Amino acid sequence: MNKEIYVRKIFSSIAKRYDFLNSLLSLRRDRAWRKFTVRMSDVAHGSRVLDVCTGTGELALAYANKTGDTAVIGTDFVYDMLAVGKDKVEKQGRTNAFIPIEADTLELPFSDNTFDIVSVGFGIRNVTDLRLGIREMCRVAVASGRIAILEFTQPTTPLFRHLYYFYFKSLLPCVGNLISRNRDDAYGYLPDSVMQFPDCEQLKRIMEECGLTDVRFYRKTLGIVAIHIGRKK
Ligand SMILES: C[S@@+](CC[C@H](N)C(=O)[O-])C[C@H]1O[C@@H](n2cnc3c(N)ncnc32)[C@H](O)[C@@H]1O
Repeated sequence: MNKEIYVRKIFSSIAKRYDFLNSLLSLRRDRAWRKFTVRMSDVAHGSRVLDVCTGTGELALAYANKTGDTAVIGTDFVYDMLAVGKDKVEKQGRTNAFIPIEADTLELPFSDNTFDIVSVGFGIRNVTDLRLGIREMCRVAVASGRIAILEFTQPTTPLFRHLYYFYFKSLLPCVGNLISRNRDDAYGYLPDSVMQFPDCEQLKRIMEECGLTDVRFYRKTLGIVAIHIGRKK
């Protein structure tokens, strides 16, 4: 099965349990990582923010806490993930905060130079063409706009890396697949895709090649995740 079809299939099947599992498997660190990403993005009241691969809208909603009356647009190509996000904001009475739109990150339905911030949380790793995805995010950002990428990475401390890999490669797939009742090994795909993803320095270089400047990154939680922020030239 090709990657795009597989990605669509697994996220469609785990959509309803996605938020719960994120929180459980990250021991609730996922919220802090998203908050930090928002804090590093220089977001202000009225900033126009696009969150691609938004899934259930968690990162978009973290930005919406800072943009005031300006709704954050979240795009994703899996309808079921967006539907969970839509239900969630309805229940929370926050329908004005989040506009979900079904769209492929490789072909965003927006004009050039539209958004002050374009973000992606745990999504760009799943996009079939990483460079094309980053270029498309840049295209829709205004000049000097920020691109923020929150993504899993590989811890650098040897001892911790061993312990973490045991959890990440053995325990997490069992628990994740069991609770999500997924038969396509969605939570086995997670560590595999992280192992194949560029490390922090490589991702920084790729972002620069894609037209970004002032790219910096921050490792969090002993290097399990990293937040890269760059500015469009
Ligand atoms: C791990 S989830 C991340 C969801 C959310 N951003 C978060 O922080 O929890 C990855 C999401 O990326 C979406 N995705 C992957 N490739 C995509 C693409 N090419 N275009 C749009 N969405 C994509 C999937 O459908 C899925 O909802």
